[in-house]
Amino acid sequence: FAKLASLKPIINHGKTNGLKVIKFLRSGNKEVTQSGRTEALEDILTANIKYRLVTKKTRLQDPQFYISVSDVKETIPGLNQTLFSDNQAISQELHPLPIDYADETNGRINFFIKPCYLCNIILKKVLSEGDTYGYHGIIKDKQTILVEYSSPNIAKPFHAGHLRSAIIGNFISNLYEAVGHKVIRINYLGDWGTQYGKCITRSTHTSDWGTQYGKCITQSTHTSDWGTQYGKCITQSTHTSDWGTQYGKCITQSTHTSDWGTQYGLLAQGFNKYGNKEDLNKDPMKHLYMVYVKINEDVAKEQQNSGPDKHEKGETHRKSLEIFRNMEQGTASEDLQLWKHFRDISIEKYREVYERLNIKFTDYEGESMYSKKSLELIEELKQRDLLHIDDTTGKGYIDIEDEKDNIKAVVQKSDGSTLYLTRDIAAVLDRHKRYNFDRTHYVVEDGQDLHFKMLKGILQKLNVPWIQRYGDQIHIRFGRISNLSTRKGKAVFLDDILNEAKRKDNKTIHSKQTSKEVDSTETVADILGVSSIIVQDLKEKRLNTYKFSWDKVLSFKGDSGIVLQYAHARLCSLIDQCGCDIHSTDFDTKYLTEPEAIQLILHIASYEDTVDKCLTSLEACHLVHYLFSLSKFISVAHRNLKVKDQPKEIAQARLQVFKCAKTTLANGMTLLGITPLDKM
Ligand code: ARG
Repeated sequence: FAKLASLKPIINHGKTNGLKVIKFLRSGNKEVTQSGRTEALEDILTANIKYRLVTKKTRLQDPQFYISVSDVKETIPGLNQTLFSDNQAISQELHPLPIDYADETNGRINFFIKPCYLCNIILKKVLSEGDTYGYHGIIKDKQTILVEYSSPNIAKPFHAGHLRSAIIGNFISNLYEAVGHKVIRINYLGDWGTQYGKCITRSTHTSDWGTQYGKCITQSTHTSDWGTQYGKCITQSTHTSDWGTQYGKCITQSTHTSDWGTQYGLLAQGFNKYGNKEDLNKDPMKHLYMVYVKINEDVAKEQQNSGPDKHEKGETHRKSLEIFRNMEQGTASEDLQLWKHFRDISIEKYREVYERLNIKFTDYEGESMYSKKSLELIEELKQRDLLHIDDTTGKGYIDIEDEKDNIKAVVQKSDGSTLYLTRDIAAVLDRHKRYNFDRTHYVVEDGQDLHFKMLKGILQKLNVPWIQRYGDQIHIRFGRISNLSTRKGKAVFLDDILNEAKRKDNKTIHSKQTSKEVDSTETVADILGVSSIIVQDLKEKRLNTYKFSWDKVLSFKGDSGIVLQYAHARLCSLIDQCGCDIHSTDFDTKYLTEPEAIQLILHIASYEDTVDKCLTSLEACHLVHYLFSLSKFISVAHRNLKVKDQPKEIAQARLQVFKCAKTTLANGMTLLGITPLDKM
């Protein structure tokens, strides 16, 4: 053992059979060199050797912890089976390790620890840490991290990508916060104009405006870039009550003012013709969407009827220009007000839905906030000789080098105005000034990969220091969800999805004859609906594209959000009705002899590792699958370990296991963004 003790510690992150690496101590001092974190173990593991505390592969029959001393390069004289089988000798040598027995395999010496000893440590840890269990000592230094997610486009239906981004981004933010980072959560709203623009292009084909818009589309698949001029106004409007005046000012700075006006003019007319305040207040997204579609149909019809060439734009179009002209001159205050109202009410609605989804933001930004700043950026790029002008198209671009290709990242249109990309660069630089973040993530569909590559490339050209360290993690990509539609048709409104989930859950609850436990209030159904959607989404790897399935989402069997909620609610009622003093922490783990109990505790102990895994991969699926297994172990334990009407010592010991299981399950669900239900 003297020789063992002198073995050089080697940091090893390896895991065997899903075994848990607890920690490595450096010889001589107690510096923790690996992110193993069961702190309480520190005092029992005093031997200055490289070791790991592992659990044997999860076999219900014989779950075991052991400490494994690896990298034993030569056979150490005296270390043989005889010695290992002599529990006494080893226990004394490594005192106070409660060694059960030891063996040697492939240059590795394994010391098996008495399960009750570790169970005690683990349960005490969970009981004392409560809702912070799993998060202590995981990170070395606290950082400020800015996470941007959801980022829908105002007055347009929230699409599945915005939903997925919201769910993933919220999870990542929760995770960072739980382990101790400071998180800035940003929702970067797309210009309202963009969406509006899209509708127009699809349905009217107006040649002046459409061309402009068309150009943007081809430059970037994710054309938030149309709304430059519109954008300017949005930001100012968030912070000023005299928004109308501001708006007037911005508009004149902008080069494509008439484009914008056409659309607003159309929307205003559409609203007067087809809209009403009542429906707008009830459901602004849907209402405005309906208005866009209808008024654009009118424009298209008028054009169709305009004579042999069908080029003439009709009255609606002409009127929309006029409305805008008046707005520009500040004589259309009613229109300005209405427009601000559209915007405010849309944001208000988003807030409501996000709340329902348990999703929070530190701040709402608009692309528009960065319009002026992107013009300044262009100037800077020119001064630093980074901006080139394409001879044929007249566009301004920056040369960036990818691993494979050279990319011309276009940041300026031929008329000098800026693009989606330009605004994103201006935004990130500005955010850094404001928040001084250490790193930032954009949770955005995989389809915008090129956009974020260009963003990163440009930031590298600009020698932004943080990009060197964290550049690879800027774009948190995810795949598309297909098959997600509601009863009513193709356009997916977030509200409808949530309502559908709620409706179906309500039905499921009723059809499952669990009537005694069911308290099927509106809230429960709503929370169940949201849990189902979140779990269905997060159980997949981010980049997986998956087919949305209502049946799977709402299943009581298999792996779904409902199963997690059910496990939690059952634990609550078990604890409630156990007939013991539930606050007592006086227990002895020697009464926990059943493999079901030990197995469950072992699984609880590996929560930290799961959190760590999620943190490095930014994948929630590890946690979701961990929680599925946890609920399975809970259900087995529930069946076999009665608490009620048991001898006091046994009941108390088992109760602690269930309390800890509940804490762990609730912690994990909360990270995912789910409110654990006490009853269902
Ligand atoms: N609003 C954009 C869209 O719907 C997503 C914005 C993503 N974030 C960003 N910083 N570019 O496609």
